[in-house]
Amino acid sequence: MEIIVQPDSQKASWLAAKLIKKIILEKPRPVIGLATGNTPLFLYKLLIKMYREGSLDFSRVVTFNLDEYVGLSPGHPSSYHHFMWENLFSQINIRPESVHFPNGLAADLQAHCQDYEQEIEKAGGIDIQVLGIGVNGHIGYNEPTSSLSSRTRIEILTEQTRKSNAVFFGSKDEVPFKAITMGIGTILEARICLLMAFGQKKARAVAQAVEGPLTAMVPASALQLHPQAIVLLDQDATTELKYLDYYKWVYDHKPEWQEY
Ligand code: GLP
Repeated sequence: MEIIVQPDSQKASWLAAKLIKKIILEKPRPVIGLATGNTPLFLYKLLIKMYREGSLDFSRVVTFNLDEYVGLSPGHPSSYHHFMWENLFSQINIRPESVHFPNGLAADLQAHCQDYEQEIEKAGGIDIQVLGIGVNGHIGYNEPTSSLSSRTRIEILTEQTRKSNAVFFGSKDEVPFKAITMGIGTILEARICLLMAFGQKKARAVAQAVEGPLTAMVPASALQLHPQAIVLLDQDATTELKYLDYYKWVYDHKPEWQEY
């Protein structure tokens, strides 16, 4: 795991944006895995800025979102589909047919989950998967006890997750109980995993994921198995890390990051 600490979330998001830009420029048909939530919002603003300035073209880019609520239509204001169009897709030149979401309204949800896996495979796999982390250590909607080799499937959300996400709905009661999520096994197949975590409230989950044991109780700890997992943190998210000085020292001595 490569743990990168930046003074604040904006600087960290700049680094993420530059890394994604590099991948988009390098690949003929870049495949980007995307996440929702507050964490990647500034990253999306930066990608829009790069597009508007003419330094980034999204016409060849293919995207797959991590998750979607079961039972919400794409037009529902709290659906992840709506979130992504609102905060990114409507403001860049991505082709609508290149954008993929799990469909929470599919008639046969199980079959749809398998189709989603196949779509990812047909696209050639994900080059970089953007991830946030839940306060309970979840990635996508893989809640604690999710199999570390799970595939795209329906997951029942914890009460804590529903509470955290109530801000995107009127109240906790309106947050659906179920979501479709890429599995941990699916996420681990991305060529690069980029986990972003900002703020004090993520500090414990970050420490458990990075320095704790590999365990299904902390789904993000599965990234310890990934050959290229980058964990991008602001200062506030690092307060429970024991080896913080070492991560900073490593970063300062890696010239390849300085080019970003
Ligand atoms: C949600 C999403 C995750 C997201 C996480 C953190 O439940 N399913 O993909 O990364 O929680 O959200 P936030 O970035 O708002 O803290």
